[in-house]
Amino acid sequence: MITRRSFLKACLATPLLAATPSLTLATTTNPFVLKAAKASKRLVPGDEYQDATVWAFNGSVPGPELRFKKGDTISLDFINELEEGSSIHWHGIRNINAMDGVAGLTQPEVMPNGQFRYEFPLNDSGTYWYHSHAKTWSQVARGLYGPLIVEDESDPLVDHDIVLMIDDWLLANDGTIDEASFGSLHDWAHGGRLGNWLTVNGESHPTIEVQKNSRIRIRLINAANARIFGLNIPATAFLIAEDGYPVPVQPSQDVVLAPAQRADFIVDLAEDDITINEVSNNGPYPAVTLKVVELKTPLVPKDVLKQPTLESPPQSIDVAIPLHMQGGAMGNLREASFKGQMHPIRELAQTYKKAWAFNGTISDHHDHLAKIERGQVVSIEVWNDTRWRHAMHLHGHHFWIQTEDGTFLDGKRDTYLFERGEKANLVFVADNPGLWLFHCHMLEHHAAGMAAVIEIS
Ligand code: C2O
Ligand code: CU
Repeated sequence: MITRRSFLKACLATPLLAATPSLTLATTTNPFVLKAAKASKRLVPGDEYQDATVWAFNGSVPGPELRFKKGDTISLDFINELEEGSSIHWHGIRNINAMDGVAGLTQPEVMPNGQFRYEFPLNDSGTYWYHSHAKTWSQVARGLYGPLIVEDESDPLVDHDIVLMIDDWLLANDGTIDEASFGSLHDWAHGGRLGNWLTVNGESHPTIEVQKNSRIRIRLINAANARIFGLNIPATAFLIAEDGYPVPVQPSQDVVLAPAQRADFIVDLAEDDITINEVSNNGPYPAVTLKVVELKTPLVPKDVLKQPTLESPPQSIDVAIPLHMQGGAMGNLREASFKGQMHPIRELAQTYKKAWAFNGTISDHHDHLAKIERGQVVSIEVWNDTRWRHAMHLHGHHFWIQTEDGTFLDGKRDTYLFERGEKANLVFVADNPGLWLFHCHMLEHHAAGMAAVIEIS
């Protein structure tokens, strides 16, 4: 029986043998086609379970791994064979605004049987992902996501470059997607749609073969609607990047990964298999096993990892945008403005399914938060005045994080997890013109009001 409490009961499943990843080489050729359509997929092994109907890119969840080199241009035709409108967003890419894929903001949704060509340069290397950006709380939960990897000549040499896309599915007792809970007001006002079945690259506890004594790069991507994962790598591991952006190389075996966040590690294997465990949700639950085999391929030298040169944060701010986040269950929001009118929170929840506000206003789809001139240094001064954690994501830019005491964290991100009550400033140079969404990547929170637009001229 799959119950909500049996979250991540992945350990019972028989490990599947996944294909051995080959040496890193960019392989995607243009123009590429991504077709969104229903597909059937076995999520839970065993005769007592059924195939789930997922929504997939090119028939698979995750969708195909797109792998390019820095400086390449993606040229890709999106074909929508779903029964509702959709679009594709390239999460973390500092994109051309018209290619950002936000349905209803940067493009109209691509209607059933319609298509759209995405074409844009890849100026940043790192680990990114793509996902639907229309009704995301439903479409992403059903499987419309995949990895986008941009390689750089200066990437550390590795024997295997392994993408691990982690998701938690909310399944019914027969192993199909729990349909009844979509749009649950409870989830929208609490921690979002939390699943009960963990998959990595669409499989429950897969096994991936790796060469003995090899050096591998692991690219973790959290594709869950709302689950914050805690992952542990029981081997010599070095964190090298977060959200695609380099961080000072540091020994680290643990990472907290909020929805949409990524973390890249270099791991030196010995002779033993390792299992990466999910450790933050009543676990440990085995997520994926790297099985060490003898392949007789010559191994890359294990050079000392180079420290990256990081851009230093700006000295002064041109525009400060205060952002007071309120709402959700057990919160302090009594009333808020919605479509120009004040409403008590009860009515907002029951009538409009809105539960969260920025500065006392609930977003009517995409409200403009600020107008900024190109080139200005902006600080979004976020105060998470709610009883929930939020994974705030800014489109089109990467930001520094300035904590309450004024210091900056290392590196830049595109998605930052705010703890309950936390205040922090997200600082960025507004160098990319267009309409850029800023929202919570807990997709139910986004739908229930946590979204705003920053306009850069
Ligand atoms: Cu990952 Cu608004 O997106
Ligand atoms: Cu949130």
